[in-house]
Amino acid sequence: MAVTIKSEQDIAAMRRSGRLLAEVHEVLREAVRPGITTGELDEIGEKAIRDRGGIPNCKNYEGYPAAICISVNEEVVHGIPRKDRYLEEGDIVSFDTGMIVDGWHSDAARTWGVGFITPELKELIQVTEDCFYKGIACARAGRHLHEISRAVAKEAKAHHFGVVRDLTGHGIGRELHEDPAVPNYWIATPGMRLRAGMTICVEPMITLGTWKVGWLDDEWTVVTLDGEPAAHYENTIAITDGEPEILTIL
Ligand code: MF3
Ligand code: CO
Repeated sequence: MAVTIKSEQDIAAMRRSGRLLAEVHEVLREAVRPGITTGELDEIGEKAIRDRGGIPNCKNYEGYPAAICISVNEEVVHGIPRKDRYLEEGDIVSFDTGMIVDGWHSDAARTWGVGFITPELKELIQVTEDCFYKGIACARAGRHLHEISRAVAKEAKAHHFGVVRDLTGHGIGRELHEDPAVPNYWIATPGMRLRAGMTICVEPMITLGTWKVGWLDDEWTVVTLDGEPAAHYENTIAITDGEPEILTIL
């Protein structure tokens, strides 16, 4: 899948998809509480997507069985929601989901605490978001792709957190996953030059311990190998000649 350049009209359509997705994330955030199951949260999220005229783009993606990827604590990404998976006070939970509106994809992830969480987990969640913002600070036409990667990695390293390397961000548009891949770790090569009209997902996955991950037997859930918690933060952004535009916020 090649890199695609979007027109102003295309970006406007992706902005509509993105804004609606931001609303869905608000619905999910408000539903988080101790005692709720990830299965219930998936139902709430899928309804929120469909109520807004969207199609959940995770559902049936390479056979993924749910609308929302819900990952708890040491689960990094692609956790599968379950009716018997109860959230508990002190957990952290990541929602990664996207939707198709008028043929255009949006994709975003957020991590929230369940009730009161430790200061260490609060810091993990905050730094993961900060990594995203540091990354996109250099996301503009004429700059190089791997400058984003290095800026993300640098911020995580400054806090001695781990950066997951086995999954990356990606281009997005009429397809959920387009070129280029957007790594979160330090790469010496500059990578491609960014152009106005590119739309990409920048999605740091940051861990409290090791960056090394494994896959569970369900063939989806990615977990940290040391069992320490991980956070995920993602937005769909549009590259412009100036500041990048975040499409998946309200
Ligand atoms: N939203 C995810 C991403 O960032 C997509 C996960 S694919 C799924 O690429 F099948 F797990 F949903
Ligand atoms: Co993504």
